[in-house]
Amino acid sequence: MNKSVKLPADIRIGVIGGGQLGKMLIEASRPWNVKYTVLENDLHCPASSVADKVILGGLKDAEGIRKLASGCDVLTFEIEHINSDALLEIEESGKTVIPSARALKTIQDKGIQKLFYREHGIPTADFLICDNPSNLAESVKSFAGGKVVIKQCTGGYDGKGVDIVAKTEIEAGVFKSPGPCVVEHFHANITEYSVIVAADRYGNVVAYPLIEMYFNPQSNLVEFLFSPAETTADLEADCRSIAMRAVKALRSPGLFAVELFVNQNAEVLVNEIAPRPHNSGHHTIEGSYTSQFEQLNRILLGLPLGNTDMVQPAAMINLVGGEGQNGFYKLKFTEQLLSEPGVYVHLYNKTEIRPHRKMGHITVMAESLQALLEKAGKVREWAVFE
Ligand SMILES: Nc1ncnc2c1ncn2[C@@H]1O[C@H](COP(=O)(O)OP(=O)(O)O)[C@@H](O)[C@H]1O
Ligand SMILES: [Mg+2]
Repeated sequence: MNKSVKLPADIRIGVIGGGQLGKMLIEASRPWNVKYTVLENDLHCPASSVADKVILGGLKDAEGIRKLASGCDVLTFEIEHINSDALLEIEESGKTVIPSARALKTIQDKGIQKLFYREHGIPTADFLICDNPSNLAESVKSFAGGKVVIKQCTGGYDGKGVDIVAKTEIEAGVFKSPGPCVVEHFHANITEYSVIVAADRYGNVVAYPLIEMYFNPQSNLVEFLFSPAETTADLEADCRSIAMRAVKALRSPGLFAVELFVNQNAEVLVNEIAPRPHNSGHHTIEGSYTSQFEQLNRILLGLPLGNTDMVQPAAMINLVGGEGQNGFYKLKFTEQLLSEPGVYVHLYNKTEIRPHRKMGHITVMAESLQALLEKAGKVREWAVFE
């Protein structure tokens, strides 16, 4: 596709994965009447309510991915755990794949991803790769401090596959790694940030304002975040520039979320990159001139990148299943939430609730960061299901 694409774009986009990210990507395309097909192994997946077509198939199944590709002009994905060999083959046949299959392959394996940061001089927590889990006790010896972080090279998400472990537990054989893993220096008392970075096909790269994130210690899910972050202009500039450098090094168009830590010595470290819209960017739907989902549509269609400034400071609260919640669900404080100005409720069209399952999110907006944090504090109490 060349630069002369004009709206309405007569283009069909294929998305591997039909979860909430796919749903919101398609919703953002609606004013432009783009046609979307998703590949998912469940016909009642979140994106099914908005997609023009759902192809039933596994995300690792090469046949399903080829079938999706054959009916689409541009292919993207909303989850990393897919068959990247099939994607590479499709890309090599000349189809537009965004982000590139090569960028996905770099990210899919946490070990390869960490080596990529090292190779490109991107600051990241010290690490080594332990290919043989039976050597784990030997591997952790060179790390200072009482704890290390063990990350499974493949298959992890939302904190699953990441363990913060006492070195003594590893040495005593109490903790065992199920597979090849990254052993990482544990940074205590970090502040976690994210920067959404958009790269178009013509080499332009833009970043959104810094996002400050808070995680649930049990589930490891982002619980609450806001943007702009409560920090200095210097640190914000540092984070954005490191995030843009990391994405530029990938040499691929796409919409990326760069997860960052700032440690006790005020060093900025890249934790990981998600090559897709991200939970940490959901507030951009109402909070930014161009949401992360509209931005990805622009990139997929070859349109100019949109402005990344914020309309107002915005916060996001995840709506997740509580302990013991299963099956049928209703938002307990629907009336309160919908009566509050600057509060927006999103539900992901999931058929059943489960403990810690992401069911939706709430965006909160206000004129100042202080007013936002106050309002968000109140709204957080209402972010529960019955
Ligand atoms: N080196 C580290 N030091 C301290 N905490 C870490 C470190 N690495 C990861 N964590 C914590 O674990 C969480 C999940 O790790 P991450 O690598 O982002 O995996 P996931 O793919 O599950 O998001 C991070 O958001 C952070 O809270
Ligand atoms: Mg992460």
